[in-house]
Amino acid sequence: VNSETGQLLDLHKKAAQLYHHILVNTPAGEGGRRYLTRRGTSAQLIDQFQLGFAPEKEILTAYCEQQKMDYQLLRKSGLFTEDQSGKLHDRFQGRVMYPIKNQYGQVIAFSGRLLNTAVTDLPKYLNSPETPIFNKRRTLFNLDVAKKAARQTGKLYLFEGFMDVISAFGAGVSAGIASMGTSFTEEQVGIIRRTSPQLNICYDGDDAGQNAIDRAIKLVASQATGNLQVRVVQLPAGVDPDEYVQKFGADRFKDYLAGQEETTTDFYLRFLRQGRHLTNQSELMSYLDQALKVIARVTAPLEQDMYLGKLAQEFSLDKAALQGQLGQIKEQLG
Ligand code: UTP
Ligand code: MN
Ligand code: MN
Ligand code: MN
Ligand code: MN
Repeated sequence: VNSETGQLLDLHKKAAQLYHHILVNTPAGEGGRRYLTRRGTSAQLIDQFQLGFAPEKEILTAYCEQQKMDYQLLRKSGLFTEDQSGKLHDRFQGRVMYPIKNQYGQVIAFSGRLLNTAVTDLPKYLNSPETPIFNKRRTLFNLDVAKKAARQTGKLYLFEGFMDVISAFGAGVSAGIASMGTSFTEEQVGIIRRTSPQLNICYDGDDAGQNAIDRAIKLVASQATGNLQVRVVQLPAGVDPDEYVQKFGADRFKDYLAGQEETTTDFYLRFLRQGRHLTNQSELMSYLDQALKVIARVTAPLEQDMYLGKLAQEFSLDKAALQGQLGQIKEQLG
């Protein structure tokens, strides 16, 4: 490995092995082991995702010095911080380590999670900065594994976090990827489009998750090229996919994913209702106006008719009247 890229990949591979070894085999990994056990993360999952632990010591710095690695290479790796005198220090300390891989399964970055977020205002997850081998906008956690699963099933599941992907995998859903936070990019959409015909968005069951679903749907829709079928799986209020698996088990999680899969139109018809008092006539009228705008965007005539039928039934309205209003809205939208 002579190229800079090759050397950076090699360093990340070694760092992942070191953090994993510390977590699994050493007294210094005790805190991390206890943490993962408490979360229900099995030894098998720890191995599958090569999870690790960075203790509150400068173990990576010590290792790299011992190996006489090139200073400029270490500086570029993102694995260290640099003090005023130019000396390097371990960036990740006191954190459970999640290796982030490219689509070929090579480690290109890390995210480290604090054991206890209550006692500090440091970020819960600390991610590697951008480096010559890590472009955040183009990276999806677990894509190397998920793309193989998607070849069988034709579906990818987009989760918010690492632990959601990991627990879903443990439950038998290996086509999960994470955008690492609620920011989801155009580049990631492009990669997903080339990997799978369908994307199921399965974000956390909280307001942040709901709003992120809305943004993700709009982002996919804004990219006219190619076809990607988007579906939503809305989690129950207050839980994320990882918590769902821990609470209810693998079988109920898989049943939930299969049973709650809905179209983006159904998602919006629900999303737009939130916080409205639909027994109030003017709120109902304003909801119906927005709902019809969503339905107006459905291109298949039969499908459009089906949503109108649902709306009419739900609010005991005359379907012909709704149809008339839909026609007006379509004219306005041009
Ligand atoms: P969440 O706050 O939903 O975290 O953020 P989580 O995945 O449920 O984490 P646990 O269960 O508490 O461990 C979703 C994702 O946003 C990113 C991480 O990728 C996280 O998994 N994130 C969150 C960060 O990058 N930094 C943060 O400080 C917080
Ligand atoms: Mn192992
Ligand atoms: Mn969240
Ligand atoms: Mn979580
Ligand atoms: Mn979460």
